Parts: sequence; C-alpha cells; structure tokens
Amino acid sequence: MDIKGILSKMTLEQKASIVSGHDAWTTEKFEEIGVPSIFVCDGPHGLRKQEEGQVQINDSIDAVCFPTACATASSFDKQLMYDMGVILGKQCQAEDVSTLLGPAINIKRSPLCGRNFEYVSEDPYLAGELTASYVNGVQSQHVGTSVKHFAANSQETERMYADSVVDERTLREIYLAAFETAVKKAHPWTIMASYNRINGVYSCENDWLLNKVLRDEWGFDGIVMSDWGAVSDRIKGIAAGLDLEMPGSQGVNDSHIVRAVQSGELSEEALDTAVTNILRWVERFTENRQQEVFDRDIDHEKSVRAEEECIVLLKNDSVLPLDKKEKIAIIGGFAETPRYQGGGSSHINSHKVVSAVSVMDSFAASEGWIRYSEGFPYDADITDEAKFDVAVSLAKEADKVVVFAGLPDVFESEAYDRKHMRLPDCQNALIEKLLKLGKPVIIVLHNGSPVEMPWVDEVKGIVEVYLGGEGVGEAAMNVLYGKVNPSGKLAESFPIKLEDNPSYLNFPVARHKVVYVEGVFVGYRYYDTKKMDVLFPFGHGLSYTSFEYSNLRCPSKIDINDGAEVSVDITNTGAVKGKEIVQLYVSDRTYATNRPVHELKGFDKVELEPGETKTVTFKLDKRSFAWYSTEVGDWYAADGSYVIEIGKSSRDIPLSQETELTGSFQIPPVIDKDVQLGELRAYNKTKEYTAKTFAEASAQFGGREGEEKDEMTKAMLEYLPIRTLRSFGGMTNEKIEEILSDLNKLV
Ligand code: BGC
Repeated sequence: MDIKGILSKMTLEQKASIVSGHDAWTTEKFEEIGVPSIFVCDGPHGLRKQEEGQVQINDSIDAVCFPTACATASSFDKQLMYDMGVILGKQCQAEDVSTLLGPAINIKRSPLCGRNFEYVSEDPYLAGELTASYVNGVQSQHVGTSVKHFAANSQETERMYADSVVDERTLREIYLAAFETAVKKAHPWTIMASYNRINGVYSCENDWLLNKVLRDEWGFDGIVMSDWGAVSDRIKGIAAGLDLEMPGSQGVNDSHIVRAVQSGELSEEALDTAVTNILRWVERFTENRQQEVFDRDIDHEKSVRAEEECIVLLKNDSVLPLDKKEKIAIIGGFAETPRYQGGGSSHINSHKVVSAVSVMDSFAASEGWIRYSEGFPYDADITDEAKFDVAVSLAKEADKVVVFAGLPDVFESEAYDRKHMRLPDCQNALIEKLLKLGKPVIIVLHNGSPVEMPWVDEVKGIVEVYLGGEGVGEAAMNVLYGKVNPSGKLAESFPIKLEDNPSYLNFPVARHKVVYVEGVFVGYRYYDTKKMDVLFPFGHGLSYTSFEYSNLRCPSKIDINDGAEVSVDITNTGAVKGKEIVQLYVSDRTYATNRPVHELKGFDKVELEPGETKTVTFKLDKRSFAWYSTEVGDWYAADGSYVIEIGKSSRDIPLSQETELTGSFQIPPVIDKDVQLGELRAYNKTKEYTAKTFAEASAQFGGREGEEKDEMTKAMLEYLPIRTLRSFGGMTNEKIEEILSDLNKLV
C-alpha cells in the first residue's frame, strides 16, 4: 500500500471516519483509494468470530477452545505459548481475521476479579514473558494481537468508570511491566486501551500512558484501539494517541473530529498520525495473506495436549496416580459437564467438549471399575440430599473417591467480580460427607481463580485443572491415571482466606475509586514478605517424580552493566519421566527502598528421564535487580548485596547465594535546606564535606562527626534537616546558603 499517497488523497471526512470501526468487528474501507476493510475477533484462547446475524455474545463460529490463560500460565512454558499462538494465528488466516483481540494480561490483584480466568498471573515477569511468546507465535502467522487491557484494569466492578489510583512506581513495576515486556520482545500490532481511568484520566485519553510511556519510552509502533465502548472524549483520545475507536460511534464522533480539526481544537497532524498507524496495520495483514485450513479436529487434539502441560498437582498423599485396577467413584457434575472456559467476550463456541465421564471407560481394567454419580450440579449451588445419598452409596463401594468440583459459570465472569472465594456450599457439604467414609478423597478443581478449601488437610489429593479448554476432561483423566505426569505450577498464590489478600480492604471500589494502597506488594510479594501462611504458594506444583537441585553457580560479584549467568543442575531422582519448572528469585539486601522480600526474575521448564540431570541457565541483567525509582525517573538498582534464590516455588528455595552488585550509582539527595544530615553522610560525594562542615554541630550533640556516643544522638543527627542548625548549631542563614551552594556543586 502506498500509505503516503493514500493519506494525501483522503478527505478530512474519510480520515475522521477511518479512526473508528465500521461496525463491531471491521474497519472502514475506501476501495476507490485502495483502502480495504479488515476483520478483528475476540480471543485469546480461541476464535470468537461473529458472522452476519450472530449478535448474542455466545453466538459465534464453531471453533476450538484452548485452555484459558489461568491454565496456560501454570505451564510456565514459553514454547507452549508460542505454539498455541501459531495455531491460533493459522486459524485466523483461515478465517480472514486480521487481529486476535488478546491476550488479556492484567495483573491478578485480587482473587475476586471476575476476569482472572482470562488473565495470566499476579507476577508481571511471568505474565510478560509468557505473553511475549504467545504474541510472537500469533504474529509469526502475519496476524495481529491486541494486548489488553492497558492498563490497571484489575477488577470488573464499575470497570467503565472507576478510577484506578496507583502510584507511578507500582504502575511501572506491577501493572505496566508485562505490557512493557510484550511490546519490547514481541512488538504487538495493537494494544487495547482499557475502560477505566488511571489517576483521574481515562486510559483512552491518557497521553502519559499512550504517547509517553507506550510509544516514546517503549517504542511501540502499532495501533492503539479502545476497548469496546471505552471512548469518552474522542478528541482528547486522538491527541493522546488512541488511534482507533471500537466499535464505531454511528458517525457521531466522525463529525466531532471534523469540527475539531476545522476549529483548530485538534491538529490535523494528530489525526494523520492515527490514520497512518491504521493504514499500516491494514497493510500488515492484507499484504501477507496465507492460505490456511482450520482443521478443528486436529486443533482439538492440540488443545488437550496443551491442557496436560497446565494441570497443577497441588496435593498428593500417595494416592495418585490412580491404578486401573482400583474401584474409583467419580462424583460431581463437573465430571459430566466440565467448566472449561469463562463467560463474556472470550467465550468460544466450542467444537467438541470432552468430559471425564465420556472417556472414563477407557481407564478401567477388568479387576477395577470407574463409576459416576452426579452428587451436585455443575451450574448452581443446589443441595439435593437424594443425590448426595446416591453419591455416598457409590463412594462406599469404591477404593478411592474423586470429586470433580469447581465454580459454576455464574460464580465468575466478565462484567462482575466474585463476592467471596468459596466453592458452592453444596460441594463443600458433599465433600465433608464423603470424607466421613474414611476413603481417600481426591478433588479435581475447575475454576478460574483461587477458592478456599476448608477440607484441605483431610483430602488426600488435589488436582487444579483450572478452566482447561474443551479437552479438559480427557487431560484430567490422563493426569489422574498417570498417563501424563503433571508439570504445571501455580502462577498465583492461593491465600487461605480472602481476608489475607493485600487488596482486601480496598477492593473493588469505594466511591468510584480503586486505591491500590498495597503498592508493589501484590500476591507472593505480600504474603512472602509478611511470612504469612498461604494455602498454596506461588510457583507450587507437584509431580509423580521428584527433583533434586544442586550445583548452583553464581558469580560472587556482578557488574550491573554486564549482567551475569546463573546456572543450576536439576536431577530427576524418581522413577518416571517428568518436567520441572525451575524458578529464580532475586532478593534485594541493599535496602535502598522498601521492596518485596524477593521477586521472580527467571524460570525454565526442563524435561528429565529418571536419573537424568540437566543444567538450567538463567541470564540476569539490570532489570533483574532493579526497581522503578521516581526520583531517577528510571529503573534503578543500588550497588550492594543481593541474594539469588533458586526455587521450586516462592516458598521452597533449595539453593541460594549472595552476590554483590557493582557498577551502579547512588541516588543523590535533594539538596535544599531540608536535606537531612544522614543523607549527606550516606552519599559518597558529600560524605567528606559533611564530616568537615558539621563537626561542630555533631560536637554539640556530644560527639565528633560520625562518632556519636549513643543511639539516640546518632538518630537525632541522622534525621536532622540542616535548616535546624540555625537553632542547634548556631549557624547563620548565610552560612547555610553557602553550605547548600557547596553541596550543590558536589552532587
Ligand atoms: C472486553 C474486551 C473484548 C471486547 C470485544 C470488551 O467488553 O473488555 O476484552 O475484546 O469487549 O468483545
């Protein structure tokens, strides 16, 4: 496409028109000047492509539902994310879809967020890395992604109006970081700006967010589109870098734009930038079409294999894997009708759904059996004593009882948040009854986010299958029977109870504001720093084999400008093949600011035969150590001590080593009359001068500079603003001014 040429031929009206959708899913076209229309559709774990006449949210083409993000995140597997992206990209080519509207990567601030099932993690490093792989996969097929919802959109309540009040450091470290990684490592074609406001300004009108951070700092070169219906003031939006309004506004905003340009309220240059970005996007797709066939049966099989990599074995008191010779009672409506995806815009009209019950016969040998009883429904919280009795009678006959439990659709969905973290009462009640029989009880969970588990100590096994896509039943049975060795780990912490969550007192909104008071202490960053007990920690997941960690190799000194490599050996010490997710955390011991006790900065998944050892190597760079300093206006890590931890989870750290970071700089104190003596003493460039200049003042407090007698005197001097030396040190204003001017020369 000759983009410059086309732009020069476009009338103001055409420009105003192309910056919003033609309808819910297509862009405007101007065939006479060579501008075709392109189609977008929802993802991210399948295609929700709506064709002519399909208007209800669940009406869309027959497609394949892959595991949702809460599940795929637990794979900790970048290759899996990439491969899934490739499959979806090919499906898009086959269906003439230019851009898949996803992935959705908002941080899981609270377990209650209704869309957590679609989101990746509470940890921005994990979310960023997995997202970059997925985006690279989809886009390798010349199909775009729309990384959403940018940004700080971590709850559904008042999602189109609420104001997320978040300090800049928290935004940068927690809520923007995964987007940053995706942009820098995968160059998504599009970003979707969220519904909410951030610190008072709608994302769709947020010049700081869209122009300064996303484009100028991160180098984003695609288009920013609005979430559906997120635009409030279209004129402000264009100036702020929002290229495309979705869907269209029935022409209303087109005429606003024309008038705004004519009156000078909006520069035509800003409009041209948006139009150019959109034309480039249209070109990217239309000029790289591929012939693909969407083979639903083949892709269905791939969705089952994907889910097998995601399932997390949370607990196993030697009851799993099941043996085909055993008599197994399967109980719970989810075994027959699994919940495998969430409600809302990511809902896939699934090609076929495989339940555990539909495949269970293939798992029993002649000596044993597998029988099913519903016990409780999959879609409501209804206690039916008669159904309980049937389930209990079946359980009495069995060697082991497997309960397929989970959250019904109405419990979690886009558009609203959960009110509590409990399973339906009927499920907990039946589990209690079954436990009374004294048989080993195993729970299989279908849920998009953590649930409280009042029976956690009594059951013998817990398998978290999350919302695992249309093949979840088969994948679950394969794991239960050891055909597949589970290898997923939690991409989020499971608190014991809702009240333990750091956002609890400030979730979801108060007077239309969502105040992120907990700052950077989200998820394990909070629980681990506070040494709180959790139900299951971040990064936790078991296997049918065991792994030993040894031989940590980490330099004792690391220059921040060079980075470093850290490696560790992992050995499969059990009897079966398995995969282990190895995690690297960095713990800042410089105490340059308040930080979580440790943060994930690397992970890898290795497959090992019994007895085999492999070396896992991590690369550390400046960002592995850094936090975001608003004083510096950049990422910063102080020189000094850090501990490199190699973990099986955030709470199980078999190996660690201290290292010294060098090559950084000290953040200078702000030199004014309020600067404290302690700051001047600590800062290398003012240390000597401070010792000389303030010796007299120190003497007044009973010691020579730096040699105060007791703790109290030390502390008093440490926190003494130098203006107070007028009163305590007999200094004149002139002298203080002179000192300040000297200090300013030193910093
Ligand atoms: C959702 C987006 C989705 C869009 C289009 C919005 O309500 O927030 O995630 O892509 O609808 O369906």
